[in-house]
Amino acid sequence: MDILADRLKVIPPYLFMTLRKKIQQAKASGLDVINLAIGDPVEPTPSHIIEMLREAALDPCNHKYPTDEEKGMNDFRKAVARWYKRKYMVDLDPENEILGLSGSKEGIHQFVMAVVNPGDIVLLTDPGYPAYRANICMAGGEACIVPIMAKNKYLPVLEDIPTQVCQKAKAFFLNYPNNPTGACASEEFFGRLVAWAKEHKILLVHDNAYSEIVFAGSDRLSLLQVPGAKQLSVEFNSLSKPYNMTGWRIGMATGSAEIIGAMSKFKENVDSGVFNVIQLAGIKALDEGDSNIEEMISIYQRRRELVLDTFAAMSITIDAGKGTFYLWIPVPDGFSSQDFTTHLFEKAHVVVAPGTAYGKYGEGFFRISLTVQDDQLAEAMERIKQYF
Ligand SMILES: Cc1ncc(COP(=O)(O)O)c(C=O)c1O
Repeated sequence: MDILADRLKVIPPYLFMTLRKKIQQAKASGLDVINLAIGDPVEPTPSHIIEMLREAALDPCNHKYPTDEEKGMNDFRKAVARWYKRKYMVDLDPENEILGLSGSKEGIHQFVMAVVNPGDIVLLTDPGYPAYRANICMAGGEACIVPIMAKNKYLPVLEDIPTQVCQKAKAFFLNYPNNPTGACASEEFFGRLVAWAKEHKILLVHDNAYSEIVFAGSDRLSLLQVPGAKQLSVEFNSLSKPYNMTGWRIGMATGSAEIIGAMSKFKENVDSGVFNVIQLAGIKALDEGDSNIEEMISIYQRRRELVLDTFAAMSITIDAGKGTFYLWIPVPDGFSSQDFTTHLFEKAHVVVAPGTAYGKYGEGFFRISLTVQDDQLAEAMERIKQYF
């Protein structure tokens, strides 16, 4: 019997699951593998957040189903509203315009299941985070790629999207600061994007998971800052990257009350919300975590410079974006992305992500993540130098 549902047959294997297996096998066979492929901060969650978790865990009230269930605790949603106001000057109604999530990845799924009908066209940038395409397909939607290229600073050229596609598209997934390219959007671009989306009646789904990881020369932005954006957009954010909380699984969706309501309706039937204890620690992070962000930026800045200097010394120019903890680097002449990453793994035991894992426009590139200890990164750079 073929037990696999058809909706899963159209989805390629998730890159990082495949990579994890490969790395485990290599390590088991005694190889000293350095993994620069996965974006998972190696530094611990700040201690005041852990302390809050410990305290909250001792209170039996918090052992029950989460308060306010799938929507997220009222106090957590209020903390999200304070965060948006402080960081972006965006006003949000905690009751209707905020939904607690167990990470922004979950939000992507909730959105498509709540909003996308079979056959609906959904736009997404390529290269892009693989979960967008997989989830659009799972909902029976038609994923329609919009290329983003170096010559356009990795922003989509809206005028190049064919009119008949614009007329039919229901939603557009975007993500700035961008994984995998590191590119950031500008207020000017977001303004044009919202005007374009209004004209074509397309919902905007902005994944802002890296909003806080930006370097000098770029601003922290929310799409919701654009007047009128809230009516047609949802924005995902998460505590994973700014507060080194990837394993905690907590994030938020904000924006259009209609979209939030639809996602909430889907969610109430599939989950019961995030453990209260984690939400209470999340409030602590949102209210009192800014210094961790600044500390992490200076760590990532130092590691960025190491990688950029290493490649510059080999006469390889990296057009580094101003955001995220990733660097998007051209593969040497004569290699495809996949061949190069396989070769680097076999010869130098350094794992990097092939550009094509993010879509066909990722061909010719690979991605390095700066979420490893400095000494590991330095060792990886030495091996790469020798390899080159
Ligand atoms: C663009 C993007 N969105 C979402 C996520 C998922 O983050 P979370 O931990 O909030 O689910 C990631 C994780 O790497 C990501 O790169």
